[in-house]
Amino acid sequence: MTEKIDFNHKVILAPMVRVSTLPLRLLSLRYGADLVYCEEIIDFKILSSTRVENDILGTVDYVMSDGNVVFRTCAQEKGKLFFQLGTSDAERAVAAALKVQEDVAGIDVNMGCPKEFSIKGGMGAALLKKPEKVKQILSSLVKAVSIPVTCKIRCLPTLEETIELARIIEKTGVSALTVHGRTKEERPRHANRNDFIKKIAESLSIPVIANGGSKELKDCSDIQKFAKDTGCTSVMVARAAERNPSIFRKEGIIPLLDIVREYVKMAINWDNNAINTKYCILQMMYKDMDIKEGDQSLTAVTMEEFSEIWGLQEYYQQHKQSMTKLLAMKYDKETE
Ligand code: FNR
Repeated sequence: MTEKIDFNHKVILAPMVRVSTLPLRLLSLRYGADLVYCEEIIDFKILSSTRVENDILGTVDYVMSDGNVVFRTCAQEKGKLFFQLGTSDAERAVAAALKVQEDVAGIDVNMGCPKEFSIKGGMGAALLKKPEKVKQILSSLVKAVSIPVTCKIRCLPTLEETIELARIIEKTGVSALTVHGRTKEERPRHANRNDFIKKIAESLSIPVIANGGSKELKDCSDIQKFAKDTGCTSVMVARAAERNPSIFRKEGIIPLLDIVREYVKMAINWDNNAINTKYCILQMMYKDMDIKEGDQSLTAVTMEEFSEIWGLQEYYQQHKQSMTKLLAMKYDKETE
């Protein structure tokens, strides 16, 4: 039987490639997000990874043959994490979903990515024009897995076409639908089609999650305004949370330098790789690169360097020591 999640009145961290990894997801939950979505992971990739229980860090890792961790999760996000799949094939989607379903609260299918890589592979926004494929993928997933399945789309050029697609999606049995109020061709500078989202929400009986409002989100109260404007009770936030995950915090935004420091701590705690950590720090700092820490982050490459920039040398060394100790204990136990 499918486990149920109530999708009403939720604020949600959006899937973002390279950004919605474990540190940002945990910070978002800390500051008030109800659910978090991981970055899109392509079915082929997760299928070729190996599931490893990392008892030193206390995580579950999906690891590629070169040692690269493609997906990492931990108990702190249990029951709140959606795994976003990039797929163009029902059979592969089901295999991928079955592989991760014990570790996540739900599966989402990306039907909005406009990038060439996705479109050429028949994934992301390419699916918006393939209703039969959409039906196949989503119905197969709903039937096969025991956790909720959701789907994230962009708008089609007309409201009528978008509602038609949304109804097809609803009939597959998905638990909720996220709508980004822009078409495949529209960029963030274009206005979000809040009116489309509102009409879609009125036309469906499953919860519709509004997305695309980040430009207008300065703090948590704006999230509620976006919900009102789109007639949805739930909102998914991407770029505003990428810049500062305390956007979810009811008591107000935490200043940038403090939030980046918290991010670096999380990255240390969960052994996030330095390349990804650097990418996320620079995304957070992009408007403030003239600050000393921004400049230093541009040239830093190791976690040690990032911890120095953010005044966390001691924190980093302590973490390293406790990891080494745990590793040694594990080795002793295994060789007893
Ligand atoms: C995205 N977006 C995105 N969408 C998706 O379904 N899967 C993904 O992996 C990604 N990756 C991604 C990376 C980055 C860096 C950005 C900025 C965006 C789109 C995102 O989830 C969202 O739909 C849009 O950004 C619009 O919402 P906001 O930003 O206005 O809240």
